[in-house]
Formats: sequence, C-alpha cells, structure tokens
Amino acid sequence: MKKRFYITTPIYYPSAKLHIGHAYCTTLTDVFARYKRLRGFECYFLTGADEHGMKIEKNAAAAGKTPQEFVDGIVEGFYKLWDLLKISNDDFIRTTQERHTKVVQDIFSKMLANDDIYLGKYKGWYCKECEAFWTDTQAGPDHLCPDCGRPVQMAEEEAYFFKTSKYVDSLMKFFDENPKFLVPESRKNEMINTFIKPGLDDLCVSRTSFSWGIPIRENPKHVIYVWLDALTNYITALGYDSDHPELFNKFWQDPECETIHILGADITRFHAIYWPMFLESLGLRKPDREFVHGLLMMKDSKMSKSKGNVVDPYPLVERYGVDAVRYYLTREINFGSDGSFAPELFVERINQDLANALGNLLNRTVSMINKYFDGVVPGYKGRINEVDGNLEDLTKLTIESYERLMDDLKITDAIAQVNELVNRANKYIDETEPWALAKDPEKKANLESVMTHLANSLYVAGMLMKPVLVTASDKLFDQLGVTGDLLNYDKIKQYGIVSGLKVEKKDQLFPRLDAAVEVEYIQSLMANNK
Ligand code: MSP
Repeated sequence: MKKRFYITTPIYYPSAKLHIGHAYCTTLTDVFARYKRLRGFECYFLTGADEHGMKIEKNAAAAGKTPQEFVDGIVEGFYKLWDLLKISNDDFIRTTQERHTKVVQDIFSKMLANDDIYLGKYKGWYCKECEAFWTDTQAGPDHLCPDCGRPVQMAEEEAYFFKTSKYVDSLMKFFDENPKFLVPESRKNEMINTFIKPGLDDLCVSRTSFSWGIPIRENPKHVIYVWLDALTNYITALGYDSDHPELFNKFWQDPECETIHILGADITRFHAIYWPMFLESLGLRKPDREFVHGLLMMKDSKMSKSKGNVVDPYPLVERYGVDAVRYYLTREINFGSDGSFAPELFVERINQDLANALGNLLNRTVSMINKYFDGVVPGYKGRINEVDGNLEDLTKLTIESYERLMDDLKITDAIAQVNELVNRANKYIDETEPWALAKDPEKKANLESVMTHLANSLYVAGMLMKPVLVTASDKLFDQLGVTGDLLNYDKIKQYGIVSGLKVEKKDQLFPRLDAAVEVEYIQSLMANNK
C-alpha cells in the first residue's frame, strides 16, 4: 500500500454553469479523498477550470464580455458549488493562471526541442464543439463527431503535431504491464480497438482559428491545443518546472505516492492515450490509475449544457441538504456505469435509506438507551445469544468489505454494504424486541447487550458513511456521544468500545419527505432549465 495519494477531477470548462453531471464527478472524487484521509493517508486533491478554447471565446463574445471576464464570472459559480457540496479539494487550478500558462509554454518548447512536436499541415474532420479533429474512419460516412454526434467540417491549417507514432508501442506495453491503470477494463479495450488498432494519427497540438489560448512562444500566431494545455494542469498545479517543485516531487514523481485521475467516459481518449504519451515525452512518471465513470443521462441522452436538459445542483442542495445530494449521487448511480437522474429515485433514496433506515435507527437506539439506561450505553458483554453474534459479525465484515471496495474505487458497492448493516440493525430491533425484554428483570443482561450492539453498529455505520454524509455523520456522532479518541477511524475495529457513551436525543437526521410534493418540485426545477 502506498503512503500518499494524489487524486484529481477533470478541470471543467467554464463555458456555462455546472450541472449535476459535473457535481457527480467531483463529489465521488471527494468521497474517495475523504475516505483516504479518514484512513490516515496523506492525500492531495485537485480540481479546477479549463478556461481556454474557441467555445469560451465565442460564448464570451455572445455575452459581450472579454473571455477573461466571462470565465471569471463562471468560475465564481464553481467555487460556490464546491463550497456548497463541501468538496475538500486542496487546490483549484485555473488554466489562465500564470503558474500554468508559463509552464505549458515551457512544456511545448521542450517537446519542440526534442523533436516530439513538428510543424506540418493539418487536414481533417473538425468538430467545433469538441475542438477535436477526426480521421475519415472516425467521422464515418455521415461525417459526425464520434464523441458528441454533431456534424464535423473538413478543415485545413498549418499546425504543430505531436508524434504519437513514436509512443504507441510504449503505450501498449504500459497498458500490458499495468492492468489496473485504466478501469473499468472495458475502457482499455475500447481505447485499443477504437483508436489504437485502426492507426493513431499524430495529434494536432496547435490552432490558429482563434486566439483565446496559450500562445506558442516560438510562433505566437498559434495557440496551444486546449487538451495539451488542459491535461498538464495535473502537474503544473503541483509546481512542475517551477521554483517550488516540492509538491510535484512529493505527489507526482515519488513512487510512494499513488496518482489517480477520475474522469468521465467522454474524455477517456485524451487521458488514456495522449496524457501518458506527453508524460513520457517529458520523461515523467505516468499516473497509477485512471478511473472512468459513466455519464448521467437524461431521457436517454447525455445531460449537457448545450442540449439544455440539465439538472441544477444548487437548488437541490439548498432544499435537501448537502448530505442527501451527495448520498444520492454515490449510492444510486453505480460508479463506473452510466446512470440517470430521476426525481422519484432521488426522493425514494432519501426517504428509504436516510430517513427510514439510518435516521430511524439512530432515533430508536438513542430513545431506548435514554429510556432504559438513563442515556448511557451499557457495558459490552460479548455475544449473549446468536442474534447478537450475527450483528457483531456483520459489523466486522462490513468494515472489511467496505475498505476493500473503497480501495478499489467501488464506492457505490461500499456504501451499499453500510446500508445493509443499517437495515440489519433495524431488523435486529424487531427481532430482539427490547420493549419486551425491558419488562422482564431477568432479561436485563439481554437488554443491555442489545443496546450495546445497536450503538456499536451505529458508530461503525456513522464512521463508514463519513466520507459521504459530511454533516449528518457528525450529527449522528453528537447524538451517540462519540467524541475524542473515538473519532479516529481505527477505533471502530475495537468492538464494544461504545460502552459508557452518553447519548443525547436531538433533531431527526433526515426528515421524511412528502414524495409527491418533492417529485413535483424537482420536476419544476428541471423544466425551468430547458
Ligand atoms: N475541460 C475538459 C476536461 C479537461 S481535463 C484535463 C472537459 N470539461 S467538461 O466540463 O466538459 O467536463 C468535465 C467532466 O465532467 C468530464 O469528466 C465529463 O465526463 C464530466 N461530465 C460532463 N457531463 C456529465 C454527465 N452528464 N454525467 C457525468 N459526468 C459528466 O471535458
């Protein structure tokens, strides 16, 4: 196990406000970063904004602003959203910052100097929307962009090219030697079959058709291709090639640090093929893992600003709270597969998992400990009977499987395990019938045992949910009396440690929602976004 983690989200285009699809990617990355920190790892988490390119230049002009003014306004919204969603990033890089632009120019110069970049002529099918050139095969007989499906145009220009041919063999070798580099596995096959096997053209890495980009120092009428500019954010933010390379040495070059990029399926090609090649050209380490998540769809098509079918995360967080939104994104949409945002499922998840299961378990447990034991969790007496033993075993097993799944970035499955534990604990109350045990003085030991096991499973569930339920887990601990040393993750492995805690009943963690009212409300939000 490596000592440190560097984890990144893609940097988002500030061409319009972010929607729930972007929030999904950043939230899941945040859950992973928080999980690693909780386990005691040093973790550096980066996100940011990808501010150059033709689309931004056009959108700014349409808004009557300079590109910089335009992106400044939108990036303010990014900060606000990440704040609202309690994203724990350590840094936020903007590709218009000097710490980035200067280094990107240096990188380009290095590649030019070592002959990895050359000046040539480009002719190909260009997608304005994706700012990508495509080959005949890729554009197909209908001349459509393979990424976004829009029509592409034949375009020709003098341009600089990156010699991908020089690095293809080594990339294939890298894939072979590092089977865990690109996950899910199907993504790697897709890359090989769609892009590498048909023959990879050299990559055009400059543009002259617009000026909102980083100029090439040696030939300033060209700006650097937005993807070469953007991908390097992962190292410029750490101070690569600067007077302060400490973070870069610690979180990128050091093999003791695991570097993980989280990204959406639509940008796999850039991260899995070109990024390792750029790094090799610069003589740098490649990332350890790239995890490709699926896309959130709306009515069977990708949710996107340009299609106008977006769900705005702001009002959702404002009305339902940060935990509900984070929970839904983590639990409902299997991390790695495509999913969809559905108002009915959103409300159902909150009601079932958070209000009925977790909230109710806390409510019942704290009330009973108050009623039967003056608010103090009784001493742990081991396994008084089989049903206690079952809950204890499940609690311990849940910790193990949660860690295994989380480490493997199977975040949805990990949280589902915690959910099962909570459901089991609720069922345990029904099975043990503490209200009946309380009537029989001879059953006092049994009643004590039930309370201790319940408090213990809640303690464990609260800790395992901490990376997702960033405010509710603290509230849960507050009611359960968990403080000080017990806030350390590893303490959950000492079964029975909750004995002696002083519980206190407070507000419900998650009030139950009126499904019909809330579904209608969310639908009206979505309709307003069209
Ligand atoms: N700027 C580039 C990324 C450069 S990274 C060096 C970009 N920006 S983006 O704003 O269009 O998208 C950023 C991320 O958001 C991508 O990972 C993309 O997959 C993700 N999502 C955008 N729409 C999404 C959904 N509807 N669902 C899930 N993720 C989505 O691409």
